[in-house]
Amino acid sequence: MRRSARYTSVMPGDAQKAFYLETFGCQMNAHDSEKVVGTLVQQGYRRVETVEQADLILYNTCSIRDKAEQKVFHRLADYKKLQKQGKKFAVLGCVAQQEGEKIFEKAPHVSLVCGSASYRNLPQLLVQIEAGKRATGLDDRQTDECFETEFTARTNPHRAYITIIEGCDKFCAYCVVPYTRGKERSRTSESVLAEARQLADLGYTEIQLLGQNVNSYRDPEGKRSFAELLAAVGQVPGIHRVRFTTSHPRDFTRDIVDAMDAVPTLCDHVHLPVQSGSNRVLQAMQRLYTREQYLERISWIKSARRQMVITSDVIVGFPGETEGDLEQSLSLLDEVGFDGIFAFKYSPRPNTPAISLEDAVPDEEKVRRLELLNQRQREIQIVQNKRYIGTTLEVMVEGKNEARNQHIGRTSQNKTLNFSAPESAGIKVGGYANVRVTSSFPNSLIGEWVVE
Ligand code: 5AD
Ligand code: SF4
Repeated sequence: MRRSARYTSVMPGDAQKAFYLETFGCQMNAHDSEKVVGTLVQQGYRRVETVEQADLILYNTCSIRDKAEQKVFHRLADYKKLQKQGKKFAVLGCVAQQEGEKIFEKAPHVSLVCGSASYRNLPQLLVQIEAGKRATGLDDRQTDECFETEFTARTNPHRAYITIIEGCDKFCAYCVVPYTRGKERSRTSESVLAEARQLADLGYTEIQLLGQNVNSYRDPEGKRSFAELLAAVGQVPGIHRVRFTTSHPRDFTRDIVDAMDAVPTLCDHVHLPVQSGSNRVLQAMQRLYTREQYLERISWIKSARRQMVITSDVIVGFPGETEGDLEQSLSLLDEVGFDGIFAFKYSPRPNTPAISLEDAVPDEEKVRRLELLNQRQREIQIVQNKRYIGTTLEVMVEGKNEARNQHIGRTSQNKTLNFSAPESAGIKVGGYANVRVTSSFPNSLIGEWVVE
């Protein structure tokens, strides 16, 4: 019944329209795309794998750094000629929200511009563009609603993402997110738990809780703290692993570590972006914590019963960053002993307070600093990863490298552990296996399957 109704609502009596969607940026965007796909399919569209086969081409964009933003304009320029064939173009996500209707000027073949806070209006917006009009969804950043849809097209049958909090109220001086994703709004813990139970029933064994600042979560009904929600999701029958990302140091409380101690399904990994090791730079970035406070959080995490892996994000070349400040970031890497970092060159972003700061660091100097940081981190990772040799770790099987005849696994610590196993072991993607680590690289481990 619903099937025929949904077809006629968008395309009267016509063949199914095809869409192509490409996603840029973070995990939040990837998961938003799963919901956008679900919504489009529910509206009678069919997903295709190439631009050529599509009637509607959508880009879910990222504007965190300039390079990410430029990607969508390159794509739009590349495919502009396809407009003649009647294809329509849509720009979603952070670039859409940031640039708004200016996108129509830069790329006149675009007919839909929609920020993430307006995705729940997509069905109506699609009707407008199908009628040959231009449509925008840009005005909802002050909304209290999250984009919850029962039509999520999950791409991985074993690991599911749940956005528990959207937006950001922190306003770090360099960051566009508060402007592109709007104010912080959390889902009720009851609805998160209901979704977790439903996912477990569908056979998912791993859940990742998502939020720009996931640990700033505040239950609108006041029933559970973030740590309590984490523990409750970890106790849902059938759920074997729970991850959460990204945490903000300011809101990282000790009870999160207590929850990790109490609930073994919570993974042995915390991603805690520090951004800089220098108090002067942290203050200029408006990060709301000092190096010492950050290190205090690290000491809590290190005092957990299980050995936790800690990863981070670091920015080099923030305006005014001196050689001494960089030295502080380098020494912080040693002091914490991170298992991985994402290091970025500072990229000035529109609307952010830092854009008007003087004392820009020249690009070649940013490149040099980035290399120094990555080099130091690589040395740390060589040592960090060696400590796993001889230990047995459980992995979730993610795939197979046929050329090497190795299975690809992911440990609770979020490390890639590639391993060999006899045919008789019956290794299956999505299953779990125990693997003894035999050697290590800076970015991965190698091992052999062991009988449980
Ligand atoms: N320039 C460089 N890196 C940035 N990030 C956020 N904004 C910028 C920017 N303007 C980085 C931060 C953040 C990660 C997702 O991206 O390190 O944690
Ligand atoms: Fe990019 Fe941040 Fe937007 Fe994610 S939220 S798409 S990282 S700008």
